Amino acid sequence: MSSGKEADILCFFINGKKVTENNVDPETTLLSFLREKLRLTGTKYGCGGGGCGACTVMVSRHQPATKTITHYSVNACLLPLCQLHGAAVTTVEGIGSTKTRIHPVQERIAKSHGSQCGFCTPGMVMSMYTLLRNKPQPTMEDITQTLAGNLCRCTGYRPIVDGCRTFCQEANCCQVNGGGACCLNGEQDADEPELETPQLFDKEEFLPLDPTQELIFPPELILMSEAANPKTLTFYGERMSWVSPASLEELIQLKTRNPKAPLVVGNTNIGPDMKFKGILHPLIISPTRVMELFEVTRTPQGVWVGAGCSLTEVWSLLKHLVPQFPEEETELFRALSQQLGYLGSQQIRNVSSLGGHIMSANPNSDLNPVLAAGNCKVSVISDGGRRQLPLNQDFFVSFGKTLLKPEEIVLSVFIPFSRKGEFVGAFRQAPRKESSFPTVTTGMRVLFSKGSRLVQDVSIYFGGMGPTTVSATRTCAAIATRSWDDETLSRAYDVLLDELVLPLSAPGGKVQFRRSLTLSFLFKFNMEVLQKLRGMNVTTEELPERMQIQPLPREIQPGLQEFQHVSKHQSDQDPVGRPTMHRSALIQATGEAVYCDDIPIIDGELFLVLVTSSRAHAKITRLDVSEALRLPGVVDVITAKDIPGKKVRALFGYEEELLAQTEVSCVGQMLCAVIADTRVHAKQGAAAVKVGYEDLPDPVFTSEEAIEKSSFFEPRRRIERGNVTEAFETVDQVHEGEFRMGGQEHFYLETQSMLVVPVGEETEFNAYVSTQWPTLTQEAIAETLSIPSNRVTCHVKRVGGAFGGKVMKTAILACITSVAAWKTNRAVRCVLERGEDMLITGARHPVLGKYKVGFMNDGRIVAADIQYYANAGNTVDESPLVAEKILLHFDNAYNIPNLRGQAAACRTNLPSNTAFRGFGVPQSVVIVENMLNDVAAVLRRPADQIREINMYKGPSVTHYKFEFSPENLLRCWEECKVKSDYGARRRAADQFNQQNRWKKRGMSIIPIKYGIAFSDGFLNQAAALVHIYKDGSVLLAHGGTELGQGLHTKMQQVASRELHIPPSKIYISETSTNTVPNTSPSAASFGTDANGMAVKNACQTLYQRLEPFRQKNPKGSWEKWVQAAYLEKISLSTTGFYRGPDLYMDWDKVEGRPYAYFTYGVCCCEVELDCLTGDYRTLRTDIVMDIGRSVNPSVDIGQIEGSFMQGLGLFTLEELKFSPSGFLYTRGPSQYKIPAVCDVPLVFNVYLLPDSDNPHAIYSSKGIGEPVLFLGSSVFFAIKDAAAAARSESGLVGPFSLDSPATPERACLACASPFTQKIPSSKPGSFQPWALNI
Ligand SMILES: Cc1cc2nc3c(=O)[nH]c(=O)nc-3n(C[C@H](O)[C@H](O)[C@H](O)COP(=O)(O)OP(=O)(O)OC[C@H]3O[C@@H](n4cnc5c(N)ncnc54)[C@H](O)[C@@H]3O)c2cc1C
Ligand code: FES
Ligand code: FES
Repeated sequence: MSSGKEADILCFFINGKKVTENNVDPETTLLSFLREKLRLTGTKYGCGGGGCGACTVMVSRHQPATKTITHYSVNACLLPLCQLHGAAVTTVEGIGSTKTRIHPVQERIAKSHGSQCGFCTPGMVMSMYTLLRNKPQPTMEDITQTLAGNLCRCTGYRPIVDGCRTFCQEANCCQVNGGGACCLNGEQDADEPELETPQLFDKEEFLPLDPTQELIFPPELILMSEAANPKTLTFYGERMSWVSPASLEELIQLKTRNPKAPLVVGNTNIGPDMKFKGILHPLIISPTRVMELFEVTRTPQGVWVGAGCSLTEVWSLLKHLVPQFPEEETELFRALSQQLGYLGSQQIRNVSSLGGHIMSANPNSDLNPVLAAGNCKVSVISDGGRRQLPLNQDFFVSFGKTLLKPEEIVLSVFIPFSRKGEFVGAFRQAPRKESSFPTVTTGMRVLFSKGSRLVQDVSIYFGGMGPTTVSATRTCAAIATRSWDDETLSRAYDVLLDELVLPLSAPGGKVQFRRSLTLSFLFKFNMEVLQKLRGMNVTTEELPERMQIQPLPREIQPGLQEFQHVSKHQSDQDPVGRPTMHRSALIQATGEAVYCDDIPIIDGELFLVLVTSSRAHAKITRLDVSEALRLPGVVDVITAKDIPGKKVRALFGYEEELLAQTEVSCVGQMLCAVIADTRVHAKQGAAAVKVGYEDLPDPVFTSEEAIEKSSFFEPRRRIERGNVTEAFETVDQVHEGEFRMGGQEHFYLETQSMLVVPVGEETEFNAYVSTQWPTLTQEAIAETLSIPSNRVTCHVKRVGGAFGGKVMKTAILACITSVAAWKTNRAVRCVLERGEDMLITGARHPVLGKYKVGFMNDGRIVAADIQYYANAGNTVDESPLVAEKILLHFDNAYNIPNLRGQAAACRTNLPSNTAFRGFGVPQSVVIVENMLNDVAAVLRRPADQIREINMYKGPSVTHYKFEFSPENLLRCWEECKVKSDYGARRRAADQFNQQNRWKKRGMSIIPIKYGIAFSDGFLNQAAALVHIYKDGSVLLAHGGTELGQGLHTKMQQVASRELHIPPSKIYISETSTNTVPNTSPSAASFGTDANGMAVKNACQTLYQRLEPFRQKNPKGSWEKWVQAAYLEKISLSTTGFYRGPDLYMDWDKVEGRPYAYFTYGVCCCEVELDCLTGDYRTLRTDIVMDIGRSVNPSVDIGQIEGSFMQGLGLFTLEELKFSPSGFLYTRGPSQYKIPAVCDVPLVFNVYLLPDSDNPHAIYSSKGIGEPVLFLGSSVFFAIKDAAAAARSESGLVGPFSLDSPATPERACLACASPFTQKIPSSKPGSFQPWALNI
């Protein structure tokens, strides 16, 4: 279908420049065109499916009918290039650059510290930029809505929101009065001297927003859009063609001739299908230039909306119409509006069409149940004429199928006005509040006979309750013609329960929850209807206030970030201790920062795609690569046989094959790699590799199965202090419990990326790798290729987020890539797609904990015995170390005199799990904290009291005989209680709970004591290399990698202080193994401590060398001293070294000094929980952290907020789901939800504990990368507290089980509402669940 025919020329503009493409392949997306063809690499690939926002750009179009220009944000990864004819695209490079002028949005996000690793930043910038193009003074609601579809894994969003907030008119609340109150609201004592509070950034220095400076819309495009007689456009590619007709008649003819060809408008359904399911459409018809599809017509009965209108346009239309009509007529408009506010993200709504949405017939569609309940209809057209079809239960036939004939086209959709006495409701519940497909969604409509409660007509539709939108027909029949009262409703619940039964193994799981949601939604609708009936004076019954259900609050308030001033004696030039912007923030915000996959393509470069196992435990019987080798562009297939050196990585006496040879032990295990001239060809090659398997018996998936089969990686560890067995005899009470905690996907925004380049002589290689540990990568490549390490240089410029996930697995991927480079003697690039990355590279270890605790009636815990089982997956990786760390931290902040713990890494047939920020500590401590909560529940005392009673006090010693002072821990505890106003708010929450039946507030206050440094003492070393050039500029290299955590910024600060020169004279180019060898990983929160000391050491040496020249010329400048030293033949280059503490842990003697010191912190959270749906909002978070004297408060507060949010995700949101055969379902942001802007606490305050010193680390600072992550559990415990309040309404008291994460599903079921209790619970083991409980 491609060659031979003449294609049209695609014409559009990018950043003001005209682009004309003669031979555009319809499979090309805007993202690949920008990145690969134009080398505009500021636009990032994060997921490829519209779920992360990293690829956001702005599209502008001229509308000839209104003669206006519209600007809208889009996901470039889903936008077919062909769709852009006549459009102007603006990318991050087009709005500003550090070479010319940066745009205020770029500046503000950067300077407000909203860019850490920076990978998400261009997308954030472009979303916000588009908003400002449409609305230069947005509201906070606009901003949060705009950013809803942009994920950030580093910052925790608060600084991004604060940067964007500076564009709002109402932006300037200072909160100095605490508790969210502004100084402008009075209350401050006029006589009180004004204390200058240090700020993280100064908005006075921001560039003003000047809309006149923006790029103008190209006049040529205006002429193009107004041209008469537009013609059909056709484009041909290798595998598919694209036709864009210019008239309805032509569209009809095309569809008649090609009934199977989809009509692509937004491509948000077809695009992901093609990408992720490999569906190929040889022909695509784009109807976007057919005017009739965009018409809106009003009639006395309602409004006809063109099927091509985007969901954003539909939403604007509805919002525009609502105020123009009496409220009673716009019930349906408002219900649809409400759903649209939560549907997808703004980028998705901007392109998704109404017709495409309906025709996608997604069973979880948000709109279809409301359109159906609201008696909407569609007008369709084909060669056979027009007809109208109601959108009812017959319309949605099955998954993705409707009643329409293949050749029919939806022309428009009719949305009727509601009538007097007619009410429409819409509800949805999703795994994440925004930018998430709903779990269950509904549209409900009831029409009452005039002035009465008598139901004349009712319709109820659900999404998420089967393979298509379903009608609750029997339930409606039970309500129709009856009076809307308790009796009718109560019967309706029973019928509904009986009518919408899901099989226990139903796809999507959550069966009990989904069924209960149908009841809860009907109940909510009932509440709304009663309120409206009262409004109409049909009933006078007052609904008690405590029964009313108001929506959860949602506006993010400005928070506090409190830190200490530097000493007044400190030189103004010395940046240490001052909030200093991440040194690359500006270039990250302009898209100039270069990540691994942004490195320009090297001549002859090849791309590598992996072939992975589809079986969890099987013999490989066949690996047939012949078909792949025949495909265009495929150069070779790399198997284990090609590896010239070591074919395995060995750890703890276990071997991990780089590429499996005879057997596979998990789905996703790497088998071979296809290399081809392009990504697309390599991907097609990988799909063509044939693998034969013979399943092996009894795969092990869960921890329980591993325990039963004694399937562990050794060593297993055990630790005990006191005599636990005896102590249990002496206690007042004993309680036993179990806690299961899920794993966590790293979800760094930049997927695993590497480029290995043969130098061309003496088997030398340059490896550009996105890794936390260049030395490991270097060594691994050398061993694999059987060459010495001195032939491999590993370079790391920056890493787009890592969180522990770019150490071990990255090294293995780099080994495979290097074999390909070695074999072909060509540069080879490997960049994993999001789904591959999630499948292959493992996650945080899920942990099962079983505990027994003995305590006195006064709350003292005397004995505890805890067993931990970490699900390690199929290879050992670092799992035994994770198990050790679990035991080193399981005392947390508590002095339990008799404490016993055992930890084992379970060997299972799941993808191998690996390090993740916190390295087992969050799993360890949450189980202890849950145990304390249980004790509190048994004793019926507040949990914070039990915590306080058992906390370490005075000179203390841990269970491994490590002496320490908990003074700062206790100070954090006290300070957090004061700052959060804990007592008063606790009382207020209790009162709220008495006044509300269906919403509950919960609070928790949780401490963390976190050990810093590597317990493997040899890793506590670091080195640096510093060159001073003759012009006075300094090039600094050290062993740490820049992962977004601001390490390079801090190192620059250290060098600046030691050399007494401004940071601007110091440059860090990259981390590389040829500048600093034998480095340790940037991990264990030890990067600044170790590298900082090495940099300090080197700089001090150089400063000393310059001393004679300073003495000789005290009034001279830095440059003069440097030049003089050079002329005197003084070396201006040196290394620095830090020999860190000799830490160790002796597991036989059960004693050691595994840490240099502890970082302490305490977090207080309050949530509001909707007990009917499990939806919750974190109302407020206060964190007090002891991090000594911060080297850079903005960077450290960034780490605190970012890791808190990652912890919030871990404990309340993120769920990895595996099929019963060990296949990972959750392989992208659509299925796996990390926190988004909607999850930020509405008030988020961070305080750095004042007057804290630390003799063990540079400039008295403390490591902070990991400790706070666990504090995200404070949201979990607040949810649990709220659920406890809900349970007490049902007469349930005492300990109850709530596993982590506390998703809406778990939170809702824990509340034990009358609706959840109606669902018969199923006996575990009596059915095959959809997902494993690993
Ligand atoms: C990241 C992401 C998040 C999302 N979140 C949500 C969510 O929270 N809630 C929700 O309900 N949905 C959600 N969606 C789904 C989204 O709303 C639909 O994919 C979208 O509305 C489909 O419209 P489209 O124009 O992009 O369709 P396309 O992909 O262009 O087309 C889809 C189908 O519709 C057919 N079609 C299109 N127009 C017509 C027509 N006029 N006549 C006949 N057939 C036609 C095509 O042939 C094709 O089969 C999400 C999608 C993505 C990618
Ligand atoms: S890469 Fe486009 S949305 Fe993620
Ligand atoms: S800064 Fe947002 S993902 Fe790293």
